[in-house]
Amino acid sequence: MTNGKDNGKLAQVSLREITSKNLKAILALRVTEEQKKAYPRSNAYSIAEGYYPPDDDLVWMRVIYADETPVGFLMTSEAPDSGEYFLWRLMIDAKHQGRGYGSGAVELLIEHIKSSGNAKVLVTSHLKNDGDAGAFYKKLGFDYTGEILNSSDYVMRISWTP
Ligand SMILES: CC(C)(COP(=O)(O)OP(=O)(O)OC[C@H]1O[C@@H](n2cnc3c(N)ncnc32)[C@H](O)[C@@H]1OP(=O)(O)O)[C@@H](O)C(=O)NCCC(=O)NCCS
Repeated sequence: MTNGKDNGKLAQVSLREITSKNLKAILALRVTEEQKKAYPRSNAYSIAEGYYPPDDDLVWMRVIYADETPVGFLMTSEAPDSGEYFLWRLMIDAKHQGRGYGSGAVELLIEHIKSSGNAKVLVTSHLKNDGDAGAFYKKLGFDYTGEILNSSDYVMRISWTP
């Protein structure tokens, strides 16, 4: 767990499994209309893709909680043997943004990845738009690789020596 800023009050951020009890709450989480231009996928779409991924890499899906409230969702694609991890989806509901939950969730994700003992790189990518997540990821230590996928998806990475 890690701490988020909840209007000055510290909320514990944790990553938990999707269950029949929290599913409806996860499906109700939304980014802002402006953010949808750079992050168009709903959580329902992401979860469906997570169950039917395009390759054989492991998929790890977690709900982001602030104390006992589901506030976001993340999903990775993982190749622990090669030490390569891809942050495929990350969102914090519009009502809960700006309180440290997104950065807390990425810190917990990095702990999870490092616990494999063979973590080499965490890659992510984002579509360019006003207020996109590039500056957020930069603050967390990610750098642009210079690679642009499908002419619009900007690739960023953070790497470690295991
Ligand atoms: C990106 C996102 C996950 C950040 O979550 P969050 O909980 O609001 O972020 P935090 O409160 O932890 O912010 C951490 C820092 O990043 C900054 N930050 C957050 N979002 C930012 C943005 N879009 N642009 C610039 N800076 C941003 C915050 O100001 C904060 O800076 P500080 O530490 O100097 O105060 C959230 O805005 C979101 O869900 N966006 C839409 C979906 C998306 O773009 N996902 C990522 C694409 S893969």
